Amino acid sequence: MGLLDGKVAIVTGAGRGLGRGEALELAREGAGVVVGEVDEAAGQAVVDEITAEGGQAVLAIGDCSEIDSAQAIVRTAVEQLGRLDALVNNAGILRDRTLVKMTPEEWDAVIKVHLRGHYAPTHAAINHWRDNGQPGHVVCTASTSGILGNFGQSNYGAAKAGIASFAQIVAQENWKHGITVNAICPAARTRMTEGAYGELKAAGGKADFDFWHPDNVAPFVAYLCSDASSHISGKVFGVQGDTVELYRPFVSEAAIDNGGNRWSAEQVGGRVAELFETTGMEPAPQNGMARLRYTMKDRSGS
Ligand SMILES: NC(=O)c1ccc[n+]([C@@H]2O[C@H](COP(=O)([O-])OP(=O)(O)OC[C@H]3O[C@@H](n4cnc5c(N)ncnc54)[C@H](O)[C@@H]3O)[C@@H](O)[C@H]2O)c1
Repeated sequence: MGLLDGKVAIVTGAGRGLGRGEALELAREGAGVVVGEVDEAAGQAVVDEITAEGGQAVLAIGDCSEIDSAQAIVRTAVEQLGRLDALVNNAGILRDRTLVKMTPEEWDAVIKVHLRGHYAPTHAAINHWRDNGQPGHVVCTASTSGILGNFGQSNYGAAKAGIASFAQIVAQENWKHGITVNAICPAARTRMTEGAYGELKAAGGKADFDFWHPDNVAPFVAYLCSDASSHISGKVFGVQGDTVELYRPFVSEAAIDNGGNRWSAEQVGGRVAELFETTGMEPAPQNGMARLRYTMKDRSGS
């Protein structure tokens, strides 16, 4: 018995990396899988892998950030596999550059694939579930680069922080309809990150455990796609290696007030230091990624 027996799930960007691992894992848990891809050869290879393992999969070629393609992916699930139960928004790209050198094209491409690439399939899937009065599960793919903030990734980080907010808001809007929406911040060695993780064959606890293998992220995604997680929604999880973390959204750390009167700029400037003194936060920019619970070195096995 698989956790997803009789269910059908879509994974966007399922032709390689994290999406491939997620598609294979969902199929191993019993789901029929729609492999969404822009790269036909990569997508077909994953369909073939799933089929060779005895699973059920179909290919949906198209850019998931285009409304027509996103609607077609949902139609493919319903028409070819009979239903839709879960959507994994995974497709993504990078165009890393510091802001002063970033072109409008680099900005727009990243914002479109990630943010519109989450909006369009989620809009189509949730409308399908709401029209049919059925529950559903959405897994979004954010990143610590967004919610913590990584140098050189203002386009990608803005999109990924936006996705974390998107998940929290769409979760609230659809909770009473039995639809869950969560986000993961994965970390793994893929085409996207081979520069960062390429040389690391991390060991974690056990010598034969490849900590940065992309397939390590997939079981938690399968859980979030299942009815076993129906009580969890609007949450952002870190997922890497053998570890799942729960992130708290932005919280207010400290406040000052002016006793019921509007501040003058001079007055508020004279008191703003209190915000930093009481929290220990620095007024200068801080490297959010330094607040990760893990470091690549800790997990490198070297
Ligand atoms: N690898 C990591 O450590 C890491 C960390 C944080 C977040 N992420 C996120 O995880 C997701 C998967 O990343 P990955 O590392 O597996 O990348 P990857 O480059 O290995 O795979 C991404 C896949 O998405 C497909 N794709 C790209 N744009 C598409 C579109 N518009 N429509 C359909 N398919 C499209 C690509 O063809 C590719 O097969 C991305 O959203 C990425 O931002 C990855």
